[in-house]
Amino acid sequence: MTEQTHLTFNDGRTIPQVGLGVWQTPNDTAVQVVTTALDAGYRHIDTAAAYRNEKGVGEGIKASGLSREDVFVTTKLWNDNQGHDETLVAAEKSLGRLGLEYLDLYLIHWPAPAKGLYVESWKALVRLQQEGRVKSIGVSNFAAEHLDRIIGETGVAPAINQIELHPRFQQRALREANTARGVLTESWSPLGQGQLLSDPVIAGIAARHGKTPAQVIIRWHVDSGLVVIPKSVTPERIVQNFGVFDFQLDEADKAAIAGLDSEAGRIGPDPLTATF
Ligand code: A2P
Repeated sequence: MTEQTHLTFNDGRTIPQVGLGVWQTPNDTAVQVVTTALDAGYRHIDTAAAYRNEKGVGEGIKASGLSREDVFVTTKLWNDNQGHDETLVAAEKSLGRLGLEYLDLYLIHWPAPAKGLYVESWKALVRLQQEGRVKSIGVSNFAAEHLDRIIGETGVAPAINQIELHPRFQQRALREANTARGVLTESWSPLGQGQLLSDPVIAGIAARHGKTPAQVIIRWHVDSGLVVIPKSVTPERIVQNFGVFDFQLDEADKAAIAGLDSEAGRIGPDPLTATF
């Protein structure tokens, strides 16, 4: 298999482009799922305090026998823990559950604008990075206006903005806003939570390449310069989803997938109006 690809952050560090997402993966399943992924060649796991599986993820990493520096670990600050001092405490608790000395990437999970605390939380992330507890810092579900506020208040741009993004909801405007600010884009629910796997356009491209629909969609994220974190608890799917480095989509494939974009394609909550 051709080697996996990496992208470079604005802080000079790199992130493996394909990672394993573990949203909705129970804690006791996470151990096995993470071990399977690391055995299959993944070197990037994306969790969150809110997923309640950081402990299982940490055990899976330990069980793999890999060196700490060979695995890229992301976790996220939950909304209820926003605020400067609260964020510092929450980060330590996540590190404790994961059993790690440092995080590769710590994200503010949602801007939660009604709370009015994301700027203070961001200042805490900047401090955590300065102290070395977190190598890189970023955000999730931020709109351009939220990015501008944290950059304006601290002078520090996030390394990455993780947002809902899949062929039916391609987020072109927000991707451009991220790029203009030196922020990478990362796709959550990259397979549309599985709903896109039966799409006939995707199925046609998959048949032409001798690949599965999931592999075509993941390759589309990779070719689009995105970091992508497909979720699966099924061992053969975890292995399959990493098998995307030995083919490329052609221009006709990309044009066909571009045509699937829809303003109504959002599956998850709208970050501007979410009330949690
Ligand atoms: P499961 O976890 O039961 O294997 P997303 O990453 O967009 O949130 O999508 C995750 C959903 O897609 C899950 O329901 C997952 O099922 C399913 N899924 C992930 N990979 C594959 C695959 N290769 N083939 C079929 N379904 C998949």
